[in-house]
Amino acid sequence: MRALVTGGAGFIGSNLVDALVERGDEVAVLDDLSSGKESNLVTAVEREVRLHRGDIRDADAVAQVFAQEKPDIVFHLAAQIDVRVSVARPAYDARTNVEGTINVLEGAREAGSRRFVFSSTGGAIYGETDVVPTPEGTAPKPMAGYGQSKFCAEAYLGLYERMHGLSTVALRFGNVYGPRQDPHGEAGVIAIFCGRFFNGGRPTVFGDGRQTRDYIYVGDLVDAIIAAGDADVGGSINIGTAEETTVLELIDAVREAGGASDGQFEPEFAEARMGEVERSCLDVGRAREALGWQSKVDVREGVRRTLAAVTPAG
Ligand SMILES: NC(=O)c1ccc[n+]([C@@H]2O[C@H](COP(=O)([O-])OP(=O)(O)OC[C@H]3O[C@@H](n4cnc5c(N)ncnc54)[C@H](O)[C@@H]3O)[C@@H](O)[C@H]2O)c1
Repeated sequence: MRALVTGGAGFIGSNLVDALVERGDEVAVLDDLSSGKESNLVTAVEREVRLHRGDIRDADAVAQVFAQEKPDIVFHLAAQIDVRVSVARPAYDARTNVEGTINVLEGAREAGSRRFVFSSTGGAIYGETDVVPTPEGTAPKPMAGYGQSKFCAEAYLGLYERMHGLSTVALRFGNVYGPRQDPHGEAGVIAIFCGRFFNGGRPTVFGDGRQTRDYIYVGDLVDAIIAAGDADVGGSINIGTAEETTVLELIDAVREAGGASDGQFEPEFAEARMGEVERSCLDVGRAREALGWQSKVDVREGVRRTLAAVTPAG
């Protein structure tokens, strides 16, 4: 199978590329390397993955890559992922996450691609909700440009299904973590804590540390993305664990994974961040039914693996 991964030099994208190469797909990557790194693709490039350096906002550049690669399947992960940037510069965010997605959809249509898998977000689309774990049918209430632009891009997937018969699916990820995550992303808290622990620092907790998220290990997520590529289901599908984990529990998990001594890695508390959602967790019933997928790695095991992968530079 010929696969194109946009954002393939990033954290999730490069983990996906490795798995696709492993199963024998012919893989190409489109990435502007704004946050992704060529070094994430070292193993993959050795195995002849083609890296196209280009910006998804540039329709001509995207069209050229599709004309050359003619992918059967498109995994669209390139995005503006910084929530704070999306609040400060919503139009800039939308140019990448909405217009950029349209350019990639156009490429897929022109190339006659069979399947289009989009990396969307759960928590940032649902916002504060009464129903936790939250199912896909919940009315979206994004609290930042990022969730809004992802939701808007999802709607374009539906449009391309209706207008052009392109088979598409939007996966709404929980908070993804694992090896190669940059500590500056949307959900870098585990990466930040592992880095701090490694460097002998202390974790900063905003608010009381009881806010919850649904943390999904990148290896599990990659399995879900690949299952979604092979399936023919449409619409939006949550990809998470359906387990809520507090920030204080995360710190415990890091302490346990690192074998911390008494008094080591104690949190420093700082003022709660404005507009932060208290609870976020995804109902994963649809993923189980439609994809036959469920997560396998619990947060303690995932934190162990993430900490073990932290290098002196990280
Ligand atoms: N990390 C999470 O917890 C999380 C949660 C929900 C959704 N997502 C989504 O998953 C996808 C991957 O996120 P990630 O965490 O791996 O982040 P990342 O920053 O590591 O990956 C994004 C990649 O896209 C590339 N990119 C950015 N703008 C581009 C542009 N204009 N043209 C071409 N390439 C561009 C970057 O260089 C990078 O390699 C994103 O779509 C993100 O919104 C991530």
